[in-house]
Amino acid sequence: MNLKDFYIDFFVSKGHKQIPSSPVVPENDPSVLFNTAGMQPLIPYLMGQTHPYGTRLCDYQKCIRTNDLESVGDTTHHTFFEMLGNWSLGDYFKEESISWSFEFLTQVLHIPVEKLAVTVYAGSDSIPFDEESYNKWKSLGISESRIAKTIDDNFWIAGESGPCGPDTEIFYFRSDEETPTVFDPDDARWVEIWNNVFMQYFKDENGVVTELPKKNVDTGMGVERTTAILEGVNDNYTSSIWKDVIELISEIANLPYKGNEKSMRIIADHIRTAVFISADPSGIRPSNTDQGYILRRLIRRAIRHAKTLNIDINSDWERRIAILILEKYKKYYKELEENYDVVLEVLKMEKEKFNRTLERGLKEFEKVIKNANEISGEMAFHLYDTYGFPIELTIELAEEKGITVDQMGFQEKFKQHQELSRTASAGKFKGGLAGNGEIETKYHTATHLLNAALKVVIGPEVHQKGSNITSERMRFDFSCDHKLSDAEKEQVENLVNKWIQEDLEVSVLEMPKQEAIDSGAECMFIEKYPSLVTVYSIGEISKELCGGPHVKRTSELGKFTIKKEEASSAGVRRIKAILVEN
Ligand code: ALA
Repeated sequence: MNLKDFYIDFFVSKGHKQIPSSPVVPENDPSVLFNTAGMQPLIPYLMGQTHPYGTRLCDYQKCIRTNDLESVGDTTHHTFFEMLGNWSLGDYFKEESISWSFEFLTQVLHIPVEKLAVTVYAGSDSIPFDEESYNKWKSLGISESRIAKTIDDNFWIAGESGPCGPDTEIFYFRSDEETPTVFDPDDARWVEIWNNVFMQYFKDENGVVTELPKKNVDTGMGVERTTAILEGVNDNYTSSIWKDVIELISEIANLPYKGNEKSMRIIADHIRTAVFISADPSGIRPSNTDQGYILRRLIRRAIRHAKTLNIDINSDWERRIAILILEKYKKYYKELEENYDVVLEVLKMEKEKFNRTLERGLKEFEKVIKNANEISGEMAFHLYDTYGFPIELTIELAEEKGITVDQMGFQEKFKQHQELSRTASAGKFKGGLAGNGEIETKYHTATHLLNAALKVVIGPEVHQKGSNITSERMRFDFSCDHKLSDAEKEQVENLVNKWIQEDLEVSVLEMPKQEAIDSGAECMFIEKYPSLVTVYSIGEISKELCGGPHVKRTSELGKFTIKKEEASSAGVRRIKAILVEN
């Protein structure tokens, strides 16, 4: 039994239903690249929708966070991790949530109470001190000196808006030194292991906080971190989760872990994440955009570090590591079993593709840096275009040599290139990416038009809150404080149809994220995007960060009709609409 099994068994014994882990690529939210927390796939239910499994749920969720991909290589960072969670959807609240967390930690994991400390919400102008949680912890035997009242760290929200609330965080004293009587949350020896969010509010884009229809509990515990803590290791990669993977890499490279930690950790982490992305039902494959680009970067960075360790890239090293990971996790994730061969094939093909140019690319790199103390934008682009070096790889190689890369220059070159191949790439999208048929593609573009029309008719403060597309219809959630009048609906419909008739061009540009933000492009969860993003523009009327695909011209869409306008949750309205052929 491991931590995941203990956790699920415990919460099932408390009346929870185990729900399956959602795909790493969110199903209903095209604006987010990957799930980054267990609560993400549950947002509609936390906002009031009825969950088919009931009101007490628990799971382990596959999460991917790539914002600090470059930090992987140290003792604690991973691009993929599993988050344990238990939820109450309008069912139990603070009392049970805190009792059960305490019971699980002390009775199941046998953590001594003396090793635990907690934080609770201290209160602000608008939200009171969380006295109930404070008293509950006290009654369970946590001494007052081990309960810290804080403000900033005790209010949880995913990004800028959405369901949120005060939380209580549980810390473990990870040190051989004597546990201090007084808990100081800033003392690094205290490590946060669990977060219980009492989700009772909804914060909209304008910062306006309203009560949710029901009070929920959302909790999260990281498997990698907690396992390392329970096993008393300071380097996550020496815990039981990674030990065998590191040992295999060490065997393949015929080198000890000590002295080669960084490259071995990168290979272990990146291959594991690549396995989970390529096994995902979303069908992501290595490419130059969005999730596919992350997958490509992960595999290529792993290959580069395998080379650093003098591993024979042509051997089946990546296959052996991937098989070990597939075997370890397939019991928990059926898609690994189902897509076993696909995963191995994806890794092999990408390896072969990159390997054809890697050697020559590295030689070229060495040649360039002999006579320069900076890699020019042109050269970085040459390495990308001719040898398939993701820009991040060139930057990493340059950093190791203590030289810089003209990243702006690279982006310039990159943009010029995109302009040239724009027509070609729009053509590529027309056929539709995996899971995106022609009609879904049309709805995708219509979604951008609707978003833009709402801003004109209702006001610029309207923002997208969610979207879901089937071949039958589109659904669009947006922030708005009132029910749309018939006149407003008609104006929105007319405006979308006017833009369709104007036969506006849909164009795509790839650019650095900051540039996209500065140019005023719309986007739901900016922090979820990679450093290079694609921005779709429709004529002069819409500009959004988006993965596509889209139609080439708006006249392809037919006629747009709103079928329904209703409340989705506090401060959020929902429109269902269809497109019909003219
Ligand atoms: N959603 C909360 C977190 O990620 C539990 O910490």
